[in-house]
Amino acid sequence: MSVAKKEYKRVTTKSLIDMKSRGEKISMLTAYDYTFSKLIDGAGIDVILVGDSASNVMAGHETTLPITLDQMIYHASSVVRGANRALVVVDLPFGSYQSDPKEALRSAIRIMKESGGHAVKLEGGKEIKESIKRILNAGIPVMGHLGLTPQSIYKFGSYTVRAKEDAEAEKLKQDALLLQKMGCFAIVLEKVPAKLAEEVAKSVSIPVIGIGAGSHVDGQVLVLHDVLGMTQGFHPRFLRRYANLYEDINSAVSRYVEDVKNINFPNEEESY
Ligand code: KIV
Repeated sequence: MSVAKKEYKRVTTKSLIDMKSRGEKISMLTAYDYTFSKLIDGAGIDVILVGDSASNVMAGHETTLPITLDQMIYHASSVVRGANRALVVVDLPFGSYQSDPKEALRSAIRIMKESGGHAVKLEGGKEIKESIKRILNAGIPVMGHLGLTPQSIYKFGSYTVRAKEDAEAEKLKQDALLLQKMGCFAIVLEKVPAKLAEEVAKSVSIPVIGIGAGSHVDGQVLVLHDVLGMTQGFHPRFLRRYANLYEDINSAVSRYVEDVKNINFPNEEESY
Protein backbone atom coordinates (compact mmCIF):
# COMPACT_ATOMS: atom_id res chain seq x y z
CA MET A 1 0.00 0.00 0.00
CA SER A 2 1.40 3.39 -0.90
CA VAL A 3 1.24 6.16 1.67
CA ALA A 4 -0.20 9.42 0.30
CA LYS A 5 2.37 12.17 0.68
CA LYS A 6 1.05 15.43 2.08
CA GLU A 7 1.17 18.11 -0.59
CA TYR A 8 2.66 21.46 0.33
CA LYS A 9 2.54 24.54 -1.84
CA ARG A 10 6.16 25.62 -2.03
CA VAL A 11 6.96 29.29 -1.39
CA THR A 12 8.70 30.64 -4.49
CA THR A 13 10.57 33.81 -5.34
CA LYS A 14 7.44 34.92 -7.19
CA SER A 15 5.19 34.25 -4.20
CA LEU A 16 7.42 36.54 -2.10
CA ILE A 17 7.03 39.36 -4.61
CA ASP A 18 3.25 38.73 -4.62
CA MET A 19 3.26 38.86 -0.81
CA LYS A 20 4.87 42.29 -0.94
CA SER A 21 2.34 43.57 -3.45
CA ARG A 22 -0.60 42.48 -1.29
CA GLY A 23 1.04 43.79 1.89
CA GLU A 24 1.62 40.42 3.54
CA LYS A 25 4.80 40.39 5.65
CA ILE A 26 7.44 37.73 4.97
CA SER A 27 8.87 35.62 7.82
CA MET A 28 12.43 34.36 7.49
CA LEU A 29 14.77 32.58 9.92
CA THR A 30 18.12 30.88 9.59
CA ALA A 31 18.64 27.13 9.91
CA TYR A 32 21.70 25.01 9.41
CA ASP A 33 20.49 21.44 9.88
CA TYR A 34 17.69 18.99 9.08
CA THR A 35 16.01 18.92 12.51
CA PHE A 36 15.58 22.67 12.91
CA SER A 37 14.67 23.06 9.25
CA LYS A 38 11.82 20.56 9.65
CA LEU A 39 10.67 22.27 12.87
CA ILE A 40 10.53 25.80 11.50
CA ASP A 41 9.13 24.69 8.15
CA GLY A 42 6.33 22.90 9.99
CA ALA A 43 5.68 26.05 12.03
CA GLY A 44 5.01 28.01 8.82
CA ILE A 45 8.17 29.98 8.14
CA ASP A 46 8.19 31.43 4.60
CA VAL A 47 11.93 31.52 3.93
CA ILE A 48 14.77 29.54 5.49
CA LEU A 49 18.17 31.15 5.16
CA VAL A 50 21.16 28.85 5.35
CA GLY A 51 23.21 31.79 6.57
CA ASP A 52 26.97 31.93 6.70
CA SER A 53 26.24 32.79 10.35
CA ALA A 54 26.67 28.99 10.58
CA SER A 55 30.32 30.00 10.92
CA ASN A 56 29.48 31.61 14.30
CA VAL A 57 26.55 29.53 15.47
CA MET A 58 27.59 26.05 14.31
CA ALA A 59 31.37 26.28 14.27
CA GLY A 60 32.08 28.84 17.02
CA HIS A 61 34.11 31.23 14.86
CA GLU A 62 34.20 34.90 15.76
CA THR A 63 33.21 36.02 12.24
CA THR A 64 31.48 34.60 9.16
CA LEU A 65 34.70 34.68 7.14
CA PRO A 66 36.13 31.19 7.77
CA ILE A 67 33.20 29.07 6.58
CA THR A 68 33.87 27.31 3.26
CA LEU A 69 31.73 26.56 0.24
CA ASP A 70 31.85 22.81 1.01
CA GLN A 71 30.65 23.47 4.57
CA MET A 72 27.80 25.70 3.33
CA ILE A 73 26.76 22.96 0.90
CA TYR A 74 26.72 20.41 3.73
CA HIS A 75 24.51 22.66 5.90
CA ALA A 76 22.26 23.59 2.98
CA SER A 77 21.65 20.01 1.83
CA SER A 78 20.59 19.07 5.38
CA VAL A 79 18.20 22.04 5.52
CA VAL A 80 16.71 21.26 2.10
CA ARG A 81 15.83 17.73 3.25
CA GLY A 82 13.81 19.20 6.14
CA ALA A 83 11.90 21.88 4.24
CA ASN A 84 8.70 20.95 2.42
CA ARG A 85 7.18 24.41 2.07
CA ALA A 86 9.71 27.15 2.73
CA LEU A 87 11.94 28.69 0.09
CA VAL A 88 15.55 27.78 0.98
CA VAL A 89 18.10 30.54 0.34
CA VAL A 90 21.80 29.76 0.74
CA ASP A 91 24.56 32.27 1.49
CA LEU A 92 27.55 32.30 -0.83
CA PRO A 93 30.42 32.34 1.67
CA PHE A 94 33.25 34.87 1.81
CA GLY A 95 35.81 34.22 -0.91
CA SER A 96 33.49 32.24 -3.17
CA TYR A 97 32.25 35.15 -5.32
CA GLN A 98 34.29 38.31 -4.80
CA SER A 99 37.34 37.56 -6.93
CA ASP A 100 35.71 37.08 -10.32
CA PRO A 101 32.26 36.58 -11.84
CA LYS A 102 33.10 33.18 -13.33
CA GLU A 103 34.10 31.88 -9.93
CA ALA A 104 30.92 33.38 -8.47
CA LEU A 105 28.84 31.47 -11.00
CA ARG A 106 30.75 28.24 -10.35
CA SER A 107 30.11 28.64 -6.61
CA ALA A 108 26.40 29.35 -7.11
CA ILE A 109 26.06 26.35 -9.44
CA ARG A 110 27.71 24.08 -6.87
CA ILE A 111 25.25 25.28 -4.22
CA MET A 112 22.23 24.71 -6.45
CA LYS A 113 23.40 21.32 -7.77
CA GLU A 114 24.88 19.81 -4.62
CA SER A 115 22.52 21.14 -1.95
CA GLY A 116 19.20 21.46 -3.81
CA GLY A 117 18.73 25.01 -2.42
CA HIS A 118 16.39 27.32 -4.28
CA ALA A 119 18.33 30.60 -4.38
CA VAL A 120 21.60 32.19 -3.28
CA LYS A 121 22.37 35.33 -1.27
CA LEU A 122 25.38 37.59 -1.83
CA GLU A 123 26.57 40.58 0.20
CA GLY A 124 27.11 43.87 -1.59
CA GLY A 125 25.85 46.14 -4.36
CA LYS A 126 27.65 47.81 -7.26
CA GLU A 127 31.03 46.23 -6.43
CA ILE A 128 29.74 42.71 -7.15
CA LYS A 129 27.33 43.58 -9.94
CA GLU A 130 29.12 41.47 -12.61
CA SER A 131 28.98 38.40 -10.36
CA ILE A 132 25.28 38.91 -9.66
CA LYS A 133 24.56 39.35 -13.38
CA ARG A 134 26.34 36.15 -14.30
CA ILE A 135 24.52 34.12 -11.65
CA LEU A 136 21.16 35.55 -12.68
CA ASN A 137 21.92 34.84 -16.35
CA ALA A 138 22.34 31.18 -15.44
CA GLY A 139 18.78 31.16 -14.09
CA ILE A 140 19.74 31.14 -10.42
CA PRO A 141 17.61 33.44 -8.23
CA VAL A 142 19.63 35.97 -6.22
CA MET A 143 18.80 37.67 -2.93
CA GLY A 144 20.91 40.77 -2.22
CA HIS A 145 22.22 41.86 1.18
CA LEU A 146 22.98 45.52 1.99
CA GLY A 147 23.69 47.63 5.06
CA LEU A 148 25.77 45.82 7.64
CA THR A 149 27.34 43.05 5.58
CA PRO A 150 29.20 40.83 8.07
CA GLN A 151 31.68 39.51 5.48
CA SER A 152 33.11 43.09 5.43
CA ILE A 153 33.47 43.34 9.20
CA TYR A 154 37.19 44.08 9.02
CA LYS A 155 36.46 47.00 6.70
CA PHE A 156 33.72 48.36 9.01
CA GLY A 157 35.64 47.68 12.23
CA SER A 158 32.49 47.05 14.28
CA TYR A 159 28.94 45.71 14.10
CA THR A 160 27.32 49.13 14.67
CA VAL A 161 24.42 50.57 12.66
CA ARG A 162 25.37 51.37 9.03
CA ALA A 163 24.33 54.18 6.67
CA LYS A 164 23.76 56.84 9.32
CA GLU A 165 25.70 59.32 7.17
CA ASP A 166 24.19 60.75 3.98
CA ALA A 167 26.85 59.40 1.60
CA GLU A 168 26.50 55.80 2.76
CA ALA A 169 22.69 56.07 2.84
CA GLU A 170 22.69 57.40 -0.73
CA LYS A 171 24.93 54.56 -1.94
CA LEU A 172 22.67 52.04 -0.22
CA LYS A 173 19.58 53.47 -1.94
CA GLN A 174 21.35 53.33 -5.33
CA ASP A 175 22.51 49.75 -4.66
CA ALA A 176 18.95 48.65 -3.81
CA LEU A 177 17.68 50.09 -7.10
CA LEU A 178 20.54 48.41 -8.97
CA LEU A 179 19.81 45.01 -7.39
CA GLN A 180 16.18 45.32 -8.38
CA LYS A 181 17.08 46.44 -11.93
CA MET A 182 19.44 43.49 -12.39
CA GLY A 183 16.69 41.05 -11.40
CA CYS A 184 17.31 40.11 -7.74
CA PHE A 185 14.09 38.81 -6.17
CA ALA A 186 14.61 40.28 -2.67
CA ILE A 187 17.07 42.21 -0.52
CA VAL A 188 18.13 41.69 3.08
CA LEU A 189 18.77 45.00 4.80
CA GLU A 190 20.81 44.67 7.96
CA LYS A 191 21.20 47.15 10.83
CA VAL A 192 20.31 50.48 9.23
CA PRO A 193 18.09 53.31 10.52
CA ALA A 194 14.39 52.40 10.31
CA LYS A 195 13.56 55.53 8.33
CA LEU A 196 16.10 54.71 5.64
CA ALA A 197 14.90 51.08 5.49
CA GLU A 198 11.32 52.29 5.01
CA GLU A 199 12.44 54.58 2.20
CA VAL A 200 14.31 51.73 0.48
CA ALA A 201 11.36 49.33 0.85
CA LYS A 202 9.06 51.91 -0.72
CA SER A 203 11.46 52.58 -3.60
CA VAL A 204 11.54 48.99 -4.91
CA SER A 205 8.88 46.47 -5.86
CA ILE A 206 10.91 43.47 -4.65
CA PRO A 207 10.67 42.53 -0.95
CA VAL A 208 13.08 44.13 1.51
CA ILE A 209 13.61 41.84 4.49
CA GLY A 210 15.02 43.56 7.53
CA ILE A 211 17.21 42.60 10.46
CA GLY A 212 17.61 45.56 12.76
CA ALA A 213 15.91 47.71 10.10
CA GLY A 214 12.61 48.55 11.81
CA SER A 215 9.09 47.43 11.02
CA HIS A 216 8.36 49.38 7.81
CA VAL A 217 9.96 46.79 5.54
CA ASP A 218 8.40 43.77 3.85
CA GLY A 219 9.55 41.06 6.22
CA GLN A 220 11.89 40.16 9.05
CA VAL A 221 14.81 37.77 9.43
CA LEU A 222 16.65 36.69 12.57
CA VAL A 223 19.17 34.01 13.50
CA LEU A 224 17.20 31.03 14.82
CA HIS A 225 19.52 30.26 17.75
CA ASP A 226 19.14 33.87 18.98
CA VAL A 227 15.33 33.74 18.67
CA LEU A 228 15.22 30.50 20.66
CA GLY A 229 17.52 31.89 23.36
CA MET A 230 20.23 29.30 22.76
CA THR A 231 23.00 31.87 22.42
CA GLN A 232 24.35 33.82 25.38
CA GLY A 233 25.91 37.25 25.77
CA PHE A 234 24.36 38.65 22.56
CA HIS A 235 21.74 41.32 23.25
CA PRO A 236 21.38 43.65 20.28
CA ARG A 237 18.37 45.95 20.44
CA PHE A 238 16.79 44.36 17.34
CA LEU A 239 16.66 40.86 18.84
CA ARG A 240 13.49 39.49 20.42
CA ARG A 241 13.90 36.13 22.16
CA TYR A 242 10.86 33.85 21.98
CA ALA A 243 12.22 31.08 24.22
CA ASN A 244 15.01 30.47 26.68
CA LEU A 245 16.37 27.17 25.41
CA TYR A 246 19.80 27.79 26.91
CA GLU A 247 18.27 27.47 30.39
CA ASP A 248 15.94 24.64 29.35
CA ILE A 249 18.73 22.58 27.78
CA ASN A 250 21.12 23.29 30.63
CA SER A 251 18.54 22.15 33.17
CA ALA A 252 17.57 19.03 31.17
CA VAL A 253 21.19 17.94 30.71
CA SER A 254 22.03 18.63 34.39
CA ARG A 255 19.10 16.43 35.46
CA TYR A 256 20.22 13.68 33.07
CA VAL A 257 23.79 13.80 34.44
CA GLU A 258 22.43 13.63 37.99
CA ASP A 259 20.18 10.66 37.15
CA VAL A 260 23.03 8.75 35.50
CA LYS A 261 25.36 9.39 38.43
CA ASN A 262 22.70 8.35 40.97
CA ILE A 263 21.63 5.31 38.92
CA ASN A 264 18.12 6.81 38.56
CA PHE A 265 18.32 6.28 34.82
CA PRO A 266 17.43 3.89 33.31
CA ASN A 267 14.75 2.39 35.56
CA GLU A 268 13.17 -1.04 35.09
CA GLU A 269 10.59 0.17 32.57
CA GLU A 270 13.34 1.75 30.52
CA SER A 271 15.31 -1.52 30.45
CA TYR A 272 14.94 -4.74 28.38
O1 KIV B 1 24.14 34.72 7.76
C1 KIV B 1 23.10 35.17 8.25
O2 KIV B 1 22.55 34.65 9.23
C2 KIV B 1 22.51 36.36 7.64
C3 KIV B 1 21.35 37.00 8.32
C4 KIV B 1 21.74 37.61 9.59
C5 KIV B 1 20.62 37.92 7.44
O3 KIV B 1 22.97 36.80 6.63
